[in-house]
Amino acid sequence: MTTPLLEVRGIDKSFGPVQVLHDVAFSAHAGEVTALVGDNGAGKSTLVKCVGGIYPIDSGDILFDGKPVQVHGPRDAGTLGIEIVYQDLALCDNLDIVQNMFLGRERRRGLVLDEASMEEMAQETLSGLSVRTVKSIRQQVSSLSGGQRQTVAIAKAVLWNSKVVILDEPTAALGVAQTAQVLELVRRLADKGLAVVLISHNMNDVFAVSDRIAALYLGRMAARVKTADVTHAQVVELITSGRSGDLGIMP
Ligand SMILES: Nc1ncnc2c1ncn2[C@@H]1O[C@H](COP(=O)(O)OP(=O)(O)O)[C@@H](O)[C@H]1O
Ligand SMILES: [Mg+2]
Repeated sequence: MTTPLLEVRGIDKSFGPVQVLHDVAFSAHAGEVTALVGDNGAGKSTLVKCVGGIYPIDSGDILFDGKPVQVHGPRDAGTLGIEIVYQDLALCDNLDIVQNMFLGRERRRGLVLDEASMEEMAQETLSGLSVRTVKSIRQQVSSLSGGQRQTVAIAKAVLWNSKVVILDEPTAALGVAQTAQVLELVRRLADKGLAVVLISHNMNDVFAVSDRIAALYLGRMAARVKTADVTHAQVVELITSGRSGDLGIMP
């Protein structure tokens, strides 16, 4: 067993009186896609927002490369190399692809923006990910399809030497062809050595690209398994009832 690049243990998180995460353990390995699955409201987005420093955890530990770390904000997560592509993407429609990828982290040469080097880096990142669907990196994001937007958001996340990339439901709003493109990109990220976490409740997506599956049920981690060791039906059972045969939460 190799040390996971990202690991959390015993995470509890409440919003006011409502406890959303109960003693959650989760890990992601370099070079692998780990699918985080669970029904709506299971706590998937909350868990990754805790890892990303958006929400403070009430208790528990976050380990990076085996060492305990403190994540008090998105900046801490970014410094560690953890990038999250959120469900709502947070791209600016009125800006072009380069501007979006460097938003808030623009490169400057003296007093002016270094457009040439930002263009070059944006182009290199997209080419490095074998993205061929985007025609011009000076295209406004408002003119992109859903799949292209997702691609830009993912490229933005990997531009910063990230080591862990977490994608919150990247294919939820996409058609069949665009979904296939995004899943290929997800696989390529892992093949480049990143630890990729894919949140999804689409079993086809999960089985197409993941190496491992972690199933959350009502804020509790029901099971963490290798994808090759389970069937679609078992994972659906874990999602809907928190258990399947001898897997899952025992009463
Ligand atoms: N900021 C918040 N304040 C209060 N409750 C929240 C907040 N964010 C999420 N929740 C609640 O936490 C639970 C888990 O939500 P979420 O993590 O978004 O689930 P998932 O991503 O698995 O669909 C839900 O019951 C949701 O209503
Ligand atoms: Mg969610």
